[in-house]
Amino acid sequence: MKKRIESLPKIELHLHIEGTFEPELMFEIGKRNNIALPYSSIEELRKAYDFNNLQDFLDIYYAGCNVLQKEKDFYDLTYAYFEKAKENNVLHAEIFFDPQSHTDRGIAFEIVVNGITKAMDDAERNLGVSSKLILSFLRHLREAAAIDILKMAEPFRDKFIAIGLDSSELGNPPDKFRKVYEMAAAQNYKRVAHAGEEGPAEYIWDSLSMLKINRLDHGNRAMEDPRLLAELMHRKIGLTLCPLSNLKLKVVNDMKLHPIKKMLDFGIKVTVNSDDPAYFGGYMNDNFIAITEALDISVDDLYKLSRNAMEVCWATAEQKKIFKTKLDNWLLID
Ligand code: ADE
Ligand code: ZN
Repeated sequence: MKKRIESLPKIELHLHIEGTFEPELMFEIGKRNNIALPYSSIEELRKAYDFNNLQDFLDIYYAGCNVLQKEKDFYDLTYAYFEKAKENNVLHAEIFFDPQSHTDRGIAFEIVVNGITKAMDDAERNLGVSSKLILSFLRHLREAAAIDILKMAEPFRDKFIAIGLDSSELGNPPDKFRKVYEMAAAQNYKRVAHAGEEGPAEYIWDSLSMLKINRLDHGNRAMEDPRLLAELMHRKIGLTLCPLSNLKLKVVNDMKLHPIKKMLDFGIKVTVNSDDPAYFGGYMNDNFIAITEALDISVDDLYKLSRNAMEVCWATAEQKKIFKTKLDNWLLID
């Protein structure tokens, strides 16, 4: 089954580029920018990757961002992810970045966007992995700060496919960001939001009704509300689930309790994603392997999971046709 998973053509829809920062590269960039990390070695840093909840992780994740200063740093971070994506047979990725983690440290928006998008272009040309970029707001900050970012993004509008919402979920409900989502909708941005990772099912309802999301990031806690499950199924909302992330952040205590298989059987458009792979111990293949081992995922299930991602992604119709042909061939040939 491992070989089957490795050769499965994949689409990644929930990936924070800052969460792909491997310790080796973090130390290398820190050194060239003369910025010390609060850890003496790569091993010590890796040891710190032991989290009890989302906030534990976020504290380390934001600290890691500090060494990113120059356009080349953002380029190197992004290109390194696409090399991993290629190794994992990812055909297309829709990735998040958190502008506020950088602009709040005095790094120009333009430096961040240019570094990331140049690497995306080169990855498509050199590695054949296509991608889109999602501008994600930090929900622990004020809505006015998110609106400032949306305005900053205006001259670069064509670089972004969607807006998103991440960071500390509890206590920062969707309602807080209603206005900025309305403004983004008026500029034709697609809309996604993290909801139901740690927050209640009610945050998922509110993301649908108040933020008018097209796709839902995580959504695990929809399991607590059968009416919500039915709504997500009927509306064909894509859910970007992140199994290894959920285990590391104790959203589930055992992979055997992960809701992905139940949701899939219920007919929800669930997908598999790696979230912050450098911190959670695995890229796409590892996420697929983890659920397959714990939940008796069949070859047909693998097909459906990848097919769902192809349906709910924002690649062109032409690209989607190519992806689906590759997936159909995988089912027949492998
Ligand atoms: N930022 C990066 N990863 C995140 C996650 N899993 N939840 C919320 N915010 C995040
Ligand atoms: Zn996430």
